[in-house]
Amino acid sequence: MKTRITELFGIQYPIQCGGMLWIAKPELAAAISNTGAMGNLTSGNYNSADELRAAVDRTRELTDKPFIVNITTMPSIRLPVELLRDFFRVCCEKQVVAIEIAGAPVDTFLGKEFIPMAKEAGVKVLHKVGTVKHAVHAEKVGYDAVTIAGFEEGGFPHKDNVSTMVLVPKVREAVSIPLLAAGGMADGRSLAAALALGADGVMMATRFLATKESGVHPNIYKVLMEKTEADTALQLQTLLAGFGLQVRALKNEIMEKIAKIESEGGDLSELLPLISGERARKVWQDGNAEEAMLTIGQSVGRISDIPTVADLVERMVREAEAALRSGVAVFDE
Ligand SMILES: Cc1cc2nc3c(=O)[nH]c(=O)nc-3n(C[C@H](O)[C@H](O)[C@H](O)COP(=O)(O)O)c2cc1C
Repeated sequence: MKTRITELFGIQYPIQCGGMLWIAKPELAAAISNTGAMGNLTSGNYNSADELRAAVDRTRELTDKPFIVNITTMPSIRLPVELLRDFFRVCCEKQVVAIEIAGAPVDTFLGKEFIPMAKEAGVKVLHKVGTVKHAVHAEKVGYDAVTIAGFEEGGFPHKDNVSTMVLVPKVREAVSIPLLAAGGMADGRSLAAALALGADGVMMATRFLATKESGVHPNIYKVLMEKTEADTALQLQTLLAGFGLQVRALKNEIMEKIAKIESEGGDLSELLPLISGERARKVWQDGNAEEAMLTIGQSVGRISDIPTVADLVERMVREAEAALRSGVAVFDE
């Protein structure tokens, strides 16, 4: 499956894992990369440049294939901007194949020198965005590729509430750099559809969470198989208004409490203990899915098994090839 994304990253299949805090660690990243898809090492798992360096080295012990490093550029107490700059410098020093930026653009958030620094080091930089406007900005300031994520996605979709189905062809028409489609991707049909819409591949995270190698508690696997496409909700619109974002998470007891606090105009000091990443970290391990804000996408409704990543990727490619063979429209550019 050759596309502009497989060529850009030097991978076999146009399938990338998205950043996943506490989940996208060396073992999962390497397992995905070993299938010929692109694993993700999420820098937010680490508290220092040295920890990220060690994680890059560990991933390289487990795979000799390319993987991407996610740097989430959002204001954070645990991950101050100077640490995010250090993460970017580590990626350049280690010459990882690519960096996935999610959040504010590198040029404005980290500094103008950072994209040229990556180019100098031979590291590709991709920006995950939620609007056409942000994709156009990414191309203008020199990113090598862009991921467009519709509001189906788990995590922090843009507040505009536009679906992947509409965004992918719009971005395809607006930029000429390679494009990944994200939000709602779960299988080979999704991949074939994304290619037909003009993407060069897919990025997905919820589906990779539901694989043996993600290493979450058995109760979480059960939740992922049982929940439907109607079991996630968009929230935190007030808290995240300044960033143009919101969160999509699994509906549960904590999200009900959060909704109540938000609707009553509660402040950050009440919300922070409920939305903390620490809570989520504990839940992935101990399995009580009611206890934390769990960023999960609508694609959870399309998950009914927990395969190995090798089985998942092999099945996706087979299904996508079959779907493409069975006849999708070919467009004259
Ligand atoms: C468990 C989990 C954790 C996530 N953590 C992050 C993160 O740390 N940084 C980030 O940029 N996106 C994060 N995301 C969002 C994904 O990278 C991706 O944009 C989104 O999940 C794609 O949509 P999908 O869930 O339908 O596949 C997370 C998603 C999940 C499911």
